[in-house]
Amino acid sequence: MKRIGIMTTGGDCSGLNTVIQRLYRGATLRGWQVIGILDGTDGLCETPPRIIKFNDETLPIEAARLAGSFLHSGRAHALNFETAAKFGKVDKFNKQLRKSLLDLKLDAIVLIGGNGSLSLAWCNKEIYAGLQLVCIPKTIDMDIPLTDKTIGFNTAVQQLTSFCDQLMLTARSHHRWFVTQTMGRDCGQLALNAGIAIGATAILIPEIKFDVNSLVQHIKSAPTDYGIILVSEGISLRGHSGRPADMISRKLTAAGIVNRTAYPEHTQRVGDTTAADRILAARMADCALHAIANNETYVMTAIKDCECKTISLKQFFDAGEVTQDPHIPGVKTSDSYVSPDDPLLNIATDLGIYIGETK
Ligand code: F6P
Repeated sequence: MKRIGIMTTGGDCSGLNTVIQRLYRGATLRGWQVIGILDGTDGLCETPPRIIKFNDETLPIEAARLAGSFLHSGRAHALNFETAAKFGKVDKFNKQLRKSLLDLKLDAIVLIGGNGSLSLAWCNKEIYAGLQLVCIPKTIDMDIPLTDKTIGFNTAVQQLTSFCDQLMLTARSHHRWFVTQTMGRDCGQLALNAGIAIGATAILIPEIKFDVNSLVQHIKSAPTDYGIILVSEGISLRGHSGRPADMISRKLTAAGIVNRTAYPEHTQRVGDTTAADRILAARMADCALHAIANNETYVMTAIKDCECKTISLKQFFDAGEVTQDPHIPGVKTSDSYVSPDDPLLNIATDLGIYIGETK
């Protein structure tokens, strides 16, 4: 019999509750005990650690499709890796996490997190020594190396697509353009995928340089006098500050292109979990449970070539673009971006979508 803990960390997204529910169901069928850690590392910093015991009443199957996390993801100013680093309390923080995990007498912990949380788990691996650490990648940014899918991404693309589908109707009525800003941090996957789905006129992503004059020409010669320019939040324009969509909007206005800006913001994270994300959540939860049964540790579930399997956290960390975390001194995170040979880039160009100066 194993005793496992489940924890969600970082920004929420759709699909977290599906993973939690599937982990609970699969674990109890194996006769294992399951506890949920509330508020991620914040909950582990309290004595006793804040936990919840699941049962079929607290975790009903019909609620598993809902966005957000039943386990919460920590308060803004709580002690976490970022605030601990800021106040020089990293050692104390790490010791507290370790103590709480030992007090909970866990055999394994499933950490559902984004690239920041997974990188931090690897960089601070001694916290988990002696218990099994199995991670499940979730993020709407799709910036985690070595996995073709992350939980929450499909729903976010769907949310953004629905948002833009509606905008397209009012754009057409008024013969004008919408500059819509997507989330995604430094990764353009969300904008690229939603842009293809909606038939955007242009998609600007951080990975590809763009030229404002080319963009203006492209819009002016488009077959319609309305449409959507999808702008990833990670783009920048030399000599300009402020929100990327505002910057582009001002440039278009100056060129005589009538436009408005639109910001879907956190609605991208809160859609009813799509079937694709629920299936992914079930696959990853099942893979994580097998990993625990096989006594694996320091691993992450991943989809590669349609197969769901575990890879080591070291492999994950070494595979991406390893950069200094701007918020945590001395800590690096591993990011993966839209690669120049991503097939969607050619598809966009072939379909007449301006994607930047790709040549
Ligand atoms: O990493 C997920 C994400 O939604 C990013 O796409 C976005 O930049 C950020 O989190 C927003 O964070 P917050 O919820 O703190 O505003």
